[in-house]
Amino acid sequence: MRTDPVLEVHLPEDHAARSLAADARRGLAATPKSLPPKWFYDARGSELFEQITRLPEYYPTRAEREILAARATEIATVTGAHTLVELGSGSSEKTRLLLDALRAGGTLAQVVVLDVSESALRDASRALGAEYPQAQVTGVVGDFTEHLGLLPGEPARLVAFLGGTIGNLLPDERAKFLASVREVLKPGEWLLLGTDLVKDPATLIRAYDDAAGVTAEFNRNVLHVLNRELGADFAVDSFDHVSHWNPDAEWIEMRLRSTVSQRVHIEALVLDVEFAAGEEMLTEVSAKFRRPGVTEELAAAGFALTHWWTDAEDRFALSLARAD
Ligand code: SAH
Ligand code: TRP
Repeated sequence: MRTDPVLEVHLPEDHAARSLAADARRGLAATPKSLPPKWFYDARGSELFEQITRLPEYYPTRAEREILAARATEIATVTGAHTLVELGSGSSEKTRLLLDALRAGGTLAQVVVLDVSESALRDASRALGAEYPQAQVTGVVGDFTEHLGLLPGEPARLVAFLGGTIGNLLPDERAKFLASVREVLKPGEWLLLGTDLVKDPATLIRAYDDAAGVTAEFNRNVLHVLNRELGADFAVDSFDHVSHWNPDAEWIEMRLRSTVSQRVHIEALVLDVEFAAGEEMLTEVSAKFRRPGVTEELAAAGFALTHWWTDAEDRFALSLARAD
């Protein structure tokens, strides 16, 4: 018998204020300045990201959906998962392809979705609870770099980390993250990982700098978050959105460029920060992958890659890996 979706909040009330304050203090003192990407995702940020997924230039969502549509049944058969755990789940839109396949295979019993965005998670877990009445749905508000040990769910579990979100972590953070996922799993359980692939820079740059300006709004949203949460006075419109391909690191760098020389006051940090005209602040990286690198990173964390699938145009890959 099913019970209604449960929402567990693993972030204290003042998490945003406290952890954001520490991140902002560190990032704004660094050269070059930077901010960690999880702070994009307040309610408005999550809504803007949903708009990004529908942009003509932003191919990763469509490419990953194409792979999931083609492979969901195979994934359900191979894993026989009882619990689907999704990290950074957002709207869980593509996830329904997996859930449908697991339900059709008769193994689906539990769904656990974890996201730092409470608004996105609330909507998604309510919708999933209604659409999958045979499963126990739990939403966990938490940080996937910190709170994996608290995840509920019975084996056999399949952990899905989609959208290329792993590319938003730096290489050392990626290694730590994958190891922490491995740590909560038992041998024989599964990880399904979505990674965007290296391709021609023009296509990549465009995916992060759309003509309608939605990505620019999304990038600048982090300044609205700082203004609201930390009492900062960023003149948001005086920062331009920049999408830059770094060929050595093979990642897209999202930056905000101050168009004028200016001083920003951050009340909660009792801090003034100077920006030179043209100075750029790094707000996010989005790493692009190749098969050998993914295989290696998974192996280093204790996962064996068993399946590698791409879309018809080889833009995006979905890896299925078994915990050793
Ligand atoms: N999986 C969805 C959403 C990808 S966007 C898709 O494929 O379309 C990245 C998601 O990860 C957002 O919902 C964001 O709120 C969440 N997120 C980002 N950093 C996070 C963190 N450190 N912990 C938990 N969730 C995070
Ligand atoms: N995981 C997504 C990606 O790297 C997140 C994302 C998409 C994003 N567009 C963005 C992050 C624009 C910052 C700015 O593709």
